[in-house]
Amino acid sequence: MEPQLDYGNWIRKKILLILGLSTLGVSALIIIPLGSFYRIIMALLFLIILISFLFPFYSYVMFSQKGGRFQEKVYNLIIQSLGTTVKGRILDIGSGNGVLAVKLAQQAGEAEVIGIDYWGKDWEYSKSVCEKNAQIGKVENRVHFQKGDAAALEFANDTFDGAISNLTFHEVQSAADKRAVLREALRVVKSGGRFAFVDYFYDAKYYGKAAEFEEYLKGLKLSQFEYKPLRDMMAVPTLLRHPKILGKVGIIYGRK
Ligand SMILES: C[S@@+](CC[C@H](N)C(=O)[O-])C[C@H]1O[C@@H](n2cnc3c(N)ncnc32)[C@H](O)[C@@H]1O
Repeated sequence: MEPQLDYGNWIRKKILLILGLSTLGVSALIIIPLGSFYRIIMALLFLIILISFLFPFYSYVMFSQKGGRFQEKVYNLIIQSLGTTVKGRILDIGSGNGVLAVKLAQQAGEAEVIGIDYWGKDWEYSKSVCEKNAQIGKVENRVHFQKGDAAALEFANDTFDGAISNLTFHEVQSAADKRAVLREALRVVKSGGRFAFVDYFYDAKYYGKAAEFEEYLKGLKLSQFEYKPLRDMMAVPTLLRHPKILGKVGIIYGRK
């Protein structure tokens, strides 16, 4: 069997493990004979913990390639929104395991893709998996990865013919205002270059209210842009529309 791209998963296995073990732990506590009040409280606690485990577990399965393949679906949306006719150098900001960069290189045969990430220990991604994925995808000659900070990209203004990013801007801890990370991404794109970014663009905590953020985007004087909720661009099952999962996720794409 051909080796498959290692997507990793947007839901961290470590979190599932902690929630799964907590569920088992509380279920074991229920059987301690400390009276019916104790048992009722423990049963309620069990129910709460069970749901808080099952929900991310469901999301994990829906994201994975053996389940709903939603990571792949979002990557395809980004690539289609950027346009597969892109040429030249394209930057992927916050590459994770590099699958988006690899898939873009596969679909846009005249593009060279540079993926940057800081690959911190909070995440289950790495540069070595990125490089392995580029080999599996047979695009290692056109996809390169390097360590970098999305808040302060080490590239001059107007370097890239395009830029993409998925679910990264809101993760940048050093930037209190995530709009600054978006501006930093656009800074390195050439005038007229294309971009397609997915993030929690409908979460007011990160970007302000949607109507105000849209005005803000207009103020950036881009040649052209679209700002849309993910659910308007692709089918998203009801449970995945939860605000903590994909409910507040949106896409911004267009030309600088
Ligand atoms: C939710 S993951 C998404 C990864 C990848 N884009 C994907 O679709 O699987 C967020 C990524 O942002 C990266 N990240 C967080 N802060 C960063 C920063 N300041 N600079 C570069 N990458 C960062 C993390 O290392 C992680 O790989």
